[in-house]
Amino acid sequence: MRVVVLTGAGISAESGIPTFRGPDGLWEGHRVEDVATPEAFVRDPEFVHRFYNMRRNKLLSPEIQPNAAHIALANFEARPGIEFLLITQNIDDLHVRAGSKNVLPMHGELLKARCLDTGELFPWREDLSMGTPHPKHPERLGRLRPHIVWFGEVPLGMDQIEDAAHRADLFLAIGTSAVVYPAAGIVQWTKPSCRRVEINMEATPQSNRFHESLRGPASQLVPKYLDEL
Ligand code: OAD
Repeated sequence: MRVVVLTGAGISAESGIPTFRGPDGLWEGHRVEDVATPEAFVRDPEFVHRFYNMRRNKLLSPEIQPNAAHIALANFEARPGIEFLLITQNIDDLHVRAGSKNVLPMHGELLKARCLDTGELFPWREDLSMGTPHPKHPERLGRLRPHIVWFGEVPLGMDQIEDAAHRADLFLAIGTSAVVYPAAGIVQWTKPSCRRVEINMEATPQSNRFHESLRGPASQLVPKYLDEL
């Protein structure tokens, strides 16, 4: 069986990482265009760095741990006879920490820095600033950015995602509001015979494209659904 899973911020909510689209429409108190666009980074790189430094520090704090939904997905992947791809919009590393192997972080990874000149990636757990020396060329300062896909940039791994979606027998969308494209459109690339299941606290604009829409917290519904499969 070929299984493709798409996760969003909702799967990490119960691990203590806030989702994006709160009732006030702000991301942790900021407007999207001030912190998550290439233009924002050109305009005020230190401000953007500070925003992601805060989120990186929070992710690395001991209270943030994978929850039962992350763990259930990792255990499921290890079952025999399953071809599995986990596409995540999340920039945290909780799927990997839970033990998932075939993870495609389509919106980037908070724990990596990217060289602005060459695109080279570096594992990163410290703060970044315009004074941060390049790991290979310490005389070059401020040439690193967070390895995050910002608005207006192309998500990562789209060819692989499209191919896997076309071939999937089961497509699971977990904890995503289904309003940000192209992620929200992946469900439409699955073949007619693919079983499509959504797990979310509430209905989304894409709910009618799924055979089943299970409503409730991911930490309870994901283990239950996968156990019964
Ligand atoms: P959102 O914050 O838009 O949506 C989170 C979804 O999770 C909502 O539909 C909630 O109903 C649901 N949810 C919340 N708690 C849940 C729980 N405990 N169990 C199950 N579902 C729960 O997050 P995303 O859909 O991930 O992109 O947002 C997509 C993209 O928007 C993000 O990757 C980010 C942002 O722009 C980038 O940073 C490039």
